[in-house]
Amino acid sequence: MAAMEKLYEGKAKILYTTEDPEVVVSQFKDDATAFNALKRGTIVGKGQMNCAIGTALFNLLESKGIPTHFIEQTSPNEMRVKRVQIVPLEVVIRNIAAGSLCKQTGIPQGTVLKQPLVEFFYKNDELGDPLLTRDRLLLLELATPEQLEQLRAMALEINQILSEFFHQCQIILVDFKLEFGFDGKGNLILADEISPDTCRLWDESQTDPTDRILDKDRFRQDLGNVENAYQQVLERVLSHLSI
Ligand code: C5P
Repeated sequence: MAAMEKLYEGKAKILYTTEDPEVVVSQFKDDATAFNALKRGTIVGKGQMNCAIGTALFNLLESKGIPTHFIEQTSPNEMRVKRVQIVPLEVVIRNIAAGSLCKQTGIPQGTVLKQPLVEFFYKNDELGDPLLTRDRLLLLELATPEQLEQLRAMALEINQILSEFFHQCQIILVDFKLEFGFDGKGNLILADEISPDTCRLWDESQTDPTDRILDKDRFRQDLGNVENAYQQVLERVLSHLSI
């Protein structure tokens, strides 16, 4: 099914309509942004690598019973996905302290959390995607209490599946961001992408705190070897996928 009109262009992907009103094509770009688009650049081959990694991980999650928007990969940097009404929340799951958690709480980077932490950020560029409290989230009517519980439960289940899988790949899943949406039937399903753009991934075989980084932090912190890191993740994910 050919892509038709541009529906939406985000920082890392473009969505196109198709002949089927319930299906869109998601095209992955090489563009990279960080710090709410204050830093911009290109990661050569990122679109194709993230599309392939996302395809593998969505297939894995579907095989474990997690409903996702993924339908099929249609070209090296495109996938067909179900059209959803996105819930304007960024659901972040953390296993190890890093990034904004360390900045905002003083917990040292690398601290293993006693249990996974689920956080909700308001998906709103103008406001800088602020961290929400449960009460603020309910005040803004971004979800009902039941939907909030469903989001938390799905996020934790996805974390368990992905953490185990990445461990098989000799990669630590430090933290990651998920987005969810409602499909045409009103079901809450996993949407957006899962890739080194949206996860912190540390190489288990490296102890050096910089060398071990296999994700977008290499771009955010100008650490170099960004493409190599994404390629490493892609190769390990593909070679460990057995579904
Ligand atoms: O910046 P912070 O530590 O809150 O990020 C937590 C996780 O969520 C990281 O893996 C980061 O890559 C991801 N994230 C994202 N998109 C955002 C914010 C965070 O993918 N807008």
